[in-house]
Amino acid sequence: MSEYNAYSVYYDLLWGDKQEDVPFYLDMARETGSPVCELACGTGRVVLPLARAGFEVTGIDMSQAMLDKLQAKLDREPREVQARVALRCADMRDYRFSQKFNLVFCAFNSFLHLLTTEDQLACLASVREYLADDGRLALNVFAPLYDRLANKNETLVRTEPDPETGRDLVVTNITQRDPANQTMDAFQCVDRIGDDGVVRRYPARFTLCWIHNREMHLLLRLAGYEVAAVYGGYDRKPYDYVSGVQLFVARKA
Ligand SMILES: C[S@@+](CC[C@H](N)C(=O)[O-])C[C@H]1O[C@@H](n2cnc3c(N)ncnc32)[C@H](O)[C@@H]1O
Repeated sequence: MSEYNAYSVYYDLLWGDKQEDVPFYLDMARETGSPVCELACGTGRVVLPLARAGFEVTGIDMSQAMLDKLQAKLDREPREVQARVALRCADMRDYRFSQKFNLVFCAFNSFLHLLTTEDQLACLASVREYLADDGRLALNVFAPLYDRLANKNETLVRTEPDPETGRDLVVTNITQRDPANQTMDAFQCVDRIGDDGVVRRYPARFTLCWIHNREMHLLLRLAGYEVAAVYGGYDRKPYDYVSGVQLFVARKA
């Protein structure tokens, strides 16, 4: 079962209004044209703006619960927007499409859910099959900042406004890093005060890896791509490591 099924309950409360990367993917889609495929599309944070802007988008995700949230939002969209979106519950490591896409992208660090080199290469090989010959692959993976990685265990507690009630949500993140394997377990829970005054806790756990810059170059090269650009921000500024953003754009070699 996908670890995101539990997360789906509150994913949009935390991330639904994250906007910073959306103009970048819209611009990429304008450059390549439809059809577009988002790997690990989740609840449609990027799929929906793309479809509203007129692009044909296929979203794949291995969590049916995340896709159900996206489908519920899609059902409230005009018919022409609905008609531009296709959803597949699938694992991006081995999915095969018969159609080709001009743009395939994986936003918001989702590629880092592939924890082994074998899984990462399997995904890149699979995408290569359905990427158009002159298409583009865009991958966002955070830049592993050494001072943060030095903390094996990290607990962060923050509050955020609950977009539905206006009261604060309490978000607790407990991260345990395993530097030998370049992975981290993230335990997250959200405490939410209901109208009845009762605090409800929504827990979830997931595992991510981190990928260094040269490692990503090697993965792409091994999988038959060449790197077209590496950005350090969604405004396409050059990669400089310190921004914490690594945004790779690749094409078939
Ligand atoms: C951080 S969320 C990102 C969702 C969305 N792309 C966004 O930017 O809001 C990560 C998503 O990756 C999905 N995921 C993780 N591993 C996957 C895999 N092997 N194949 C497909 N989806 C996967 C999860 O189900 C989850 O929806």
